[in-house]
Amino acid sequence: MPPMPDNLVARSLASLWHPCTQMKQHASGELPLLGVARGKGAWLFDDKGRRYLDGISSWWVNLFGHCNPRINAALKDQLERLEHVMLAGFTHEPAVQLAERLSALTGGALGHCFYASDGASATEIALKMSFHFWRNAGRPEKQHFLCLEKGYHGETVGALAVTDIPLFRDAYGPLLRPATVMPTPDGRLAATPVEAALTAGSALEAYLERYHGQTAALIVEPLVQCAAGMAMHAPEYLRLARALCDRFEVHLICDEIAVGFGRTGTFFAHQQASIRPDFLCLSKGISAGYLPLSAVLTREDIYQAFYDDSTAAGFLHSHSYTGNALACRAALASLDIFAADDVLAVNGRRAESIVRGLAPLAERASVRHFRHRGMIFAFDVAADAAFGRRFHRAALEREVLLRPIGNTVYLMPPYIVDEAEIAHLCRVTGEALEAALP
Ligand SMILES: Cc1ncc(COP(=O)(O)O)c(C=O)c1O
Repeated sequence: MPPMPDNLVARSLASLWHPCTQMKQHASGELPLLGVARGKGAWLFDDKGRRYLDGISSWWVNLFGHCNPRINAALKDQLERLEHVMLAGFTHEPAVQLAERLSALTGGALGHCFYASDGASATEIALKMSFHFWRNAGRPEKQHFLCLEKGYHGETVGALAVTDIPLFRDAYGPLLRPATVMPTPDGRLAATPVEAALTAGSALEAYLERYHGQTAALIVEPLVQCAAGMAMHAPEYLRLARALCDRFEVHLICDEIAVGFGRTGTFFAHQQASIRPDFLCLSKGISAGYLPLSAVLTREDIYQAFYDDSTAAGFLHSHSYTGNALACRAALASLDIFAADDVLAVNGRRAESIVRGLAPLAERASVRHFRHRGMIFAFDVAADAAFGRRFHRAALEREVLLRPIGNTVYLMPPYIVDEAEIAHLCRVTGEALEAALP
């Protein structure tokens, strides 16, 4: 590959429209833009020779570091066999094996896997499947969706309709099919997280008692509402939501796009509540941060409702790259690492170390609600609205990539950070906090 030219950032600003970004803030220098030349392990290296510890796993996707040798080897092997084939009328080993292994990870309960490419498309699929299920089941009046306050499920029009983040949603309000927003079980909102769960559960019950007849599904991010600023809730809420969905014949969609694949300490977050969703949306960590891939897993009886002599009763949704062989192979290599390295147990020890490293920050007067679940760590900072940007820049200057959400600082490192990297991450978090506070 030719060496990266000096003016990569200028060329990028001239030619790319970056995601989730007011481009003018890059042009004015208010928001840094870094040209990345390569990655290795937990580190990203820019085109100026500087390095950054990836403290947020590149938007929560990377599990086992950049350019992981084991995943690279699997992909090289797959490249010599099959890169991609359309999945309508064709099938292949990586797609089948991945579906089998994901199903096994749900104890066989969610045995039918529908692939797509991004998280938002998984959300779309789960919503459409739920809606279409009720139609096929002769109950077309059940077509309304419930979501949670501050919930986030992606940026496409259907996903945005069940997303309650005004900054992302408001500009498109007239385009969206309204969903009902239920109170969040965010543990910060009551004396204890369980109390917050019970309060939110009561509100859900009151709503469903009246409106279950027209409700198709409730969509939730189990345990951590990540885009809301790592809002964490007690598993009790999921147990209540499951019981209410059963009682009122409403589907429960668990969006584990951000929290699946070990992020919250168990392989899937919903396992901590000992429940099963009707639809499980997966993406991000599914391919360990290598290639775009998402999946929706569902139950036998839901699958059966589409299995019919009528073509129109089938689920006719599709994306061109559905079940891409390279992406599925990366996902299989990642599952192999989970199995071989006892990742969840080792992460438990890693998480303890990170909590110890961050603990002194919790003592600071401006720091509120220090919290963690699995490999997600967060705290809120009492500061002005520009704090997050100052913090982001201060961390980059100290070789760490961290991007607060509002005034919530969070860490979501890849599952390969070693003790020295953890120490660096925790030290820089403290220094950046110091530097960013007025
Ligand atoms: C819980 C959740 N759902 C859906 C999405 C959308 O995924 P994607 O950005 O791949 O479309 C995200 C992305 O952050 C997410 O956190």
